[in-house]
Amino acid sequence: MKHVDSLVQLTPADVSEILQLSVELKTQFRNGERPCLLGGRVLTLVFEKPSLRTRVSFEVAIAQLGGSSLFLSCGEAGLNGRESVADVSRVLGSYSDWIVLRVFSHKLVDQFVEHAGCPIINGLSDQGHPCQALSDVLTVQETLGGLKGKTVVFVGDANNVARSLAVACAMTGVKFILAAPVGYQFTPDFVERIKQKVPTADVAQITDPRAAVARADVVYTDVWASMGQEAEFEKRKQVFASYQVNSALMAAAPQHARFMHCLPARRNIEVTDDVLDGPNSIVIPQAENRMHVARGILLWLQQNRSH
Ligand code: CP
Ligand code: NVA
Repeated sequence: MKHVDSLVQLTPADVSEILQLSVELKTQFRNGERPCLLGGRVLTLVFEKPSLRTRVSFEVAIAQLGGSSLFLSCGEAGLNGRESVADVSRVLGSYSDWIVLRVFSHKLVDQFVEHAGCPIINGLSDQGHPCQALSDVLTVQETLGGLKGKTVVFVGDANNVARSLAVACAMTGVKFILAAPVGYQFTPDFVERIKQKVPTADVAQITDPRAAVARADVVYTDVWASMGQEAEFEKRKQVFASYQVNSALMAAAPQHARFMHCLPARRNIEVTDDVLDGPNSIVIPQAENRMHVARGILLWLQQNRSH
């Protein structure tokens, strides 16, 4: 049984299949077709943190495919100590065709993978955000007319979004450059793990954001303090001050470079309004693609289980 728990666990062929299915479903959707491919199937979402895009894209995705969903906070699910994680996973897995988790610690995702007996989808953990990254490479492919040889520059913290995006880029032939201050970059073993999985991976990290964006096809950023890091926000605002994506930084990038952000954005902190709302910003089609890729993920997982 396959899971979408961590992208590095998937193969480039898996990623390519998910993207292909997502493209087909999106084309059908645009033609007004909503095939009932997952009728009677139930998706359970268990979230420990707030969400707009991840929750709604998955709930809408399963509804469009003829199935249904139910949403529980971690507390409602009993993951607040009411019962063991293993018991909650086994019970929820016996009721559900897939479970989407949004959690602080990735260990909880691993425990569900171990015990639930149904496909687990990581809807964001401290370690990664694979659904976002799969959707983002689809957006790059559509916007730039292909993936191979393109360059995505992530300016900011080496967080969950950056980690998954680096792996997704490696698996699809996209060069990935992280521009981040020392102490907020990828650990060498993370980069090594990507290179072991994809020997052709082109992943670099530097401290200078201007040099990094000089040959970017896409300039990407995310918040400087992720959910759970709110207490560090003031400190991080200082550390990342010279990493703001603003018109001066975009002027250092090629004219055709697009701007991406997973959203939610802290406007005029990591990105200025003029860039976020500017002509090169593709953040809204990027967010829309979460829904198309959510359907691709659900269908791909269903096709890769034996019952
Ligand atoms: N990008 C993203 O995952 O958004 P939400 O936190 O709203 O789900
Ligand atoms: N890095 C952000 C992404 C939110 C979608 C966070 O974890 O809060």
